[in-house]
Amino acid sequence: DVAVGAAPDLAGRHVVVSAGGTREPLDPVRFLGNRSSGKQGYALARSAAARGARVTLVAANAALPDPAGVDIVPVGTAVQLREAVLKAAADADAVVMAAAVADFRPETYATGKIKKKDGEDPAPIVLVRNPDILAEIAGDRPRTGQIVVGFAAETDDVLANGRAKLARKGCDLLVVNEVGERKTFGSEQNEAIVLGADGSETPVPYGPKEDLADTIWDLVIQRLP
Ligand code: CTP
Ligand code: CA
Repeated sequence: DVAVGAAPDLAGRHVVVSAGGTREPLDPVRFLGNRSSGKQGYALARSAAARGARVTLVAANAALPDPAGVDIVPVGTAVQLREAVLKAAADADAVVMAAAVADFRPETYATGKIKKKDGEDPAPIVLVRNPDILAEIAGDRPRTGQIVVGFAAETDDVLANGRAKLARKGCDLLVVNEVGERKTFGSEQNEAIVLGADGSETPVPYGPKEDLADTIWDLVIQRLP
């Protein structure tokens, strides 16, 4: 469903978008997850396809319809998402990490369902760090001139936290959401400030996730070689 009238300003480009939230299994029936719906990442994929890009959508557990004309790579865990994104990023003009990636995963996976035992306290769940995919790609670009975009949901000092995160990750753009009621998780609408490594600040008013997606691609296109 290519939007009628959309400028084909991403024609000839390959873009990679990660979307959704990773799930880190504990046993065959349980996982550690998060509240990401995948809607913002899917909106990014649809927008890029409408603008003529070849799109690889690395989709982590999003219960959303497959966008037409997009290559979808389904993944479950952060480690799987890393593999899929790195593979697709090899020839990509831009990588947008909209997925909510679990920072930690259980150290061990129980191949049988964990059972409770009478009179016994539960065993603690030991967590280990997951790889930081955004920092890895931003720090060692698989392709010269590739534009790398991250997302951050922040509370408290949102802008200062965003600036610090942008510098720490080494990406070109960071889309900063303020987490609050009705915003972000599961919502159809979003409000954000897009911070650029060049010092730019682009506020995007509360509105459809499609609008934020289009603004992100505008900013990416400005920075493409
Ligand atoms: N990200 C990633 N790999 C991780 C964690 C996060 O690629 N293991 C990406 C997300 O997709 C997002 C960006 O990094 O684009 C920022 O995620 P966020 O959770 O805000 O950053 P963290 O460095 O994990 O910081 P925090 O401690 O605030 O969670
Ligand atoms: Ca995190």
